[in-house]
Amino acid sequence: MTNFFDVTFDELEAPETGVVLALVDKDGVFPPVVAAIDKATKGHLKKASKTADFSGAAKTSADVLAPTGAGIDRIILLGAGVAKKLSDSDIINLGGAAMGLLSGKGITELTVIAEFKDKTLDGGATADLVMGMMLRAYVDDRYKSKTKKSNDKSANRKLKSVRVLCKNPKAATKHMKTRLAIAEGVCIARDLVNAPANILGPEEFASEAEKLRDAGVEVTVLDDEAMEKLGMGALLGVGQGSHKPSRLAIMEWKGSKNAKEKPVAFIGKGVVFDTGGISLKPAKGMEDMKGDMGGAACVVGLMHALAHRGAKANVVGAIGLVENMPSSNAQRPGDIVTSMSGQTIEVLNTDAEGRLVLADVIWHIKNAYKPKFMIDLATLTGAIIVALGKEHAGLFSNDDDLSEQLAASGHATGEKVWRLPLDPAYDKMIDSKNADMKNIGGPQAGSITAAQFIQRFVDDVPWAHLDIAGTAMASKSSAINTSWASGFGVRLLDHLVAEHYED
Ligand code: BES
Ligand code: MN
Ligand code: ZN
Repeated sequence: MTNFFDVTFDELEAPETGVVLALVDKDGVFPPVVAAIDKATKGHLKKASKTADFSGAAKTSADVLAPTGAGIDRIILLGAGVAKKLSDSDIINLGGAAMGLLSGKGITELTVIAEFKDKTLDGGATADLVMGMMLRAYVDDRYKSKTKKSNDKSANRKLKSVRVLCKNPKAATKHMKTRLAIAEGVCIARDLVNAPANILGPEEFASEAEKLRDAGVEVTVLDDEAMEKLGMGALLGVGQGSHKPSRLAIMEWKGSKNAKEKPVAFIGKGVVFDTGGISLKPAKGMEDMKGDMGGAACVVGLMHALAHRGAKANVVGAIGLVENMPSSNAQRPGDIVTSMSGQTIEVLNTDAEGRLVLADVIWHIKNAYKPKFMIDLATLTGAIIVALGKEHAGLFSNDDDLSEQLAASGHATGEKVWRLPLDPAYDKMIDSKNADMKNIGGPQAGSITAAQFIQRFVDDVPWAHLDIAGTAMASKSSAINTSWASGFGVRLLDHLVAEHYED
């Protein structure tokens, strides 16, 4: 896990030492504290920023070294665009951009002036700014033996502490507890997705879930034998080709005042590596399939965030953990397996394995916990990347209200979702001659037929399926993430719970 920098919040006043980062509105007019620094430098700051052609437009910056008169060592000005128009997620991104500016500069201590000329940042927004910095600060150097040495070089020194000067330090401090829990949750998910499968198998993954016990989460881990007893033939069929045993980890957070309140449930696909099985994938790019547990990673990160921020909700997280390998013991195309629901499945393509895993986990959670709703997350289909690229996760649902809530949380957090249809006409495409259903449709509408398959295991429980194959991994660099894994879904679902499902 990333060790974030320490944060403290203080009243707004002009800092007199150290390295400073300040935000500037699009019109280039300095907010009061920056204006005070400028005054101390006898207008040098203004002059320097003009010379650098810095106006405060979004994504622009000016780095002023050793401004005489003000005492400080350096002040980095970051353009915020039109401050009044900044949304919550814009502010998170602004924090990310601020962190990006520090990269390679060897800065270990920083003072941030969180002030705009004509927009007041409340405690939540100030904490959001810092959360953006934390998300951007994430680097996965766990597997680099040379990192320690290079950290001695000034450019690689890491930021250790940040002092944020703001309007309402008390409120910001309070909100930071929540934001820190969320940032940690996102980075836990990224760590899990980035980890290679020789290091993170189903057992190791389950151990990561078990760590949540420290935060008061109840964790149960089922092994092959326990799943066999429950009749989880679909999940176990996927894992049987691997010498690594499969696991089902169930995490329960009981945060509601009412212990009897039905939980909300989040279910993640956790294929620690997807070779395709006997329906083997091509070699090119197969290494990306170490990330085929992005759904499960999100659920663990989410449970961390909810528990650590003390969410007043009852929440169940469940992750089906398997490795999809070809071997003499692997399941074959044409095999017919019996799922826990009793429905039989003809496995026509062993590479359509995620839906098999989800089928049993969803069925079990539905029956054992009677949740208010179930949301599953899965890196389920390549077809969703064809349809939506990396901008939106695919959303499929049997419930319009839940869909609208998810879409709204997507807008608020920047983790966007786009709804695609379910329809009996698509459902027909997975009927099988030999069993109750087959695990692939035809060449068309691949993401939809995958969702239809899952729907056969949800009954009439409100349910949403998020296909995150395009958004969880192989991420483009963004303001708040430069890592391969994005941690997609943690902020989205934390927001959903916070907005609609807490006491
Ligand atoms: N894990 C893959 C989907 C995937 C593809 C995730 C690319 C991330 C990036 C999934 O198990 C899979 O193999 N799906 C097949 C389904 C097909 C066999 C019906 C696919 O998308 O090709
Ligand atoms: Mn597959
Ligand atoms: Zn897969």
